[in-house]
Amino acid sequence: MTFSRRDFVKSSVLGAVAAGVGAHTAFPDALAEDSQQGHASKEDSPKRPVIICAHNGYAYTEAAYAFLKSGGDTLEAGIRVVKGPEDDPNDDSVGLGGLPNEEGVVELDSCCMHGPTRRAGSVGGVRNIKNVSMVGRAVMEHTGHVMLVGEGAEKFAVAMGFPRENLLTERSRKIWLLWKEFNSDRDWWGPGMADPHWHPPAPDSKPQADLWRDRIQQLQQRAADLGIEPEFQLAAVHRVLFPPTGTIHCSVLNDKGEMSGITTTSGLAFKLPGRCGDSPIIGAGCYTDQDIGSAGATGAGEENIKVAGAHTIVENMRHGMSPQEAAMDALKRIVRNYNGDMTKLRYMDMTYYALRKDGAYACVCLWEGYSPGNPHKFTVHDGTLRSEVTTPLLKGYSQDWPPFPPIPDELKKDSYYLK
Ligand code: GLY
Repeated sequence: MTFSRRDFVKSSVLGAVAAGVGAHTAFPDALAEDSQQGHASKEDSPKRPVIICAHNGYAYTEAAYAFLKSGGDTLEAGIRVVKGPEDDPNDDSVGLGGLPNEEGVVELDSCCMHGPTRRAGSVGGVRNIKNVSMVGRAVMEHTGHVMLVGEGAEKFAVAMGFPRENLLTERSRKIWLLWKEFNSDRDWWGPGMADPHWHPPAPDSKPQADLWRDRIQQLQQRAADLGIEPEFQLAAVHRVLFPPTGTIHCSVLNDKGEMSGITTTSGLAFKLPGRCGDSPIIGAGCYTDQDIGSAGATGAGEENIKVAGAHTIVENMRHGMSPQEAAMDALKRIVRNYNGDMTKLRYMDMTYYALRKDGAYACVCLWEGYSPGNPHKFTVHDGTLRSEVTTPLLKGYSQDWPPFPPIPDELKKDSYYLK
């Protein structure tokens, strides 16, 4: 993968405009073809059991499915999926190794719902505890509350026997230092004027693309100085320039029709301390109703909270919508919140997962992916483990925030650039 997301924004936005969609235009003409169609295999011949989850759960889904088939509990099966990325120090979107807040401290969020017993648990802003998915479940099982946050949630986790550990891996610490460096023309981080390599900011008269080329090259050099592995340096620069909101959601249905859902994340990279996105919010990051279905979300947490995405999807299914229609409607509410203004919407992305009680499922996203040939995908297991392409609402590709000129070609050689 050698493309930058930004390379294709121009064409995607122009494509949308060509299709009749401009700024402040409502969305219908920009709809991707698939967005209004169901997939017969998903919705007409559903199977049970079934697990659907974000793409980063793929490696853990086979074992969780076997556990489910053998009669295992649906929430435990979901936890077995999401615990994989939580434990993986190389997945910097979740658990151990998650990218930290602006102070260099990893803060994790999670929520879950157990359909058969109609219970819920949640934790937000938890430090020093890796498996917050299990801490959220412990809140559900061992307290009379639904949600614990911050220091109280950490103390509760320790009381329940979860080990305290440093969640900031060396790689994530170095990426955070690189981020501090990126902002160092506005603060005292990074080498100062006494450093032999310090030089004044480039003159404003230089073209924007050249200024950004210089900036990326400097950041890449600093990444090397910090000891970030060569093959990961541009990926690290990408995380610094465009702080990601990685997450994993998993919805699970067994052959008896019982279901559960769980979502876990390290949230927005370099966020303000204490910031919680949608992932610990029951009804936004995850919602399960044993009578109807289960839904969850990954992506722009602030946008999802405003439409209570997971709850909206389950309620839509209750009122007769298919999983795909139900999830698309939640995406359209995000579009509506911006009056269809593509100049704003192109800077956000959102993925919804919807699983109905009969086994029908859908996974939809706001934009097609990061670039042509690199569509959003999700994981399904209904007897066969596979990746499927997520169905987009809008034609085109999301653009990183903050706005950024095209990355020069010679800086895009690295295949890890977008990982
Ligand atoms: N969806 C994850 C977050 O925004 O924190």
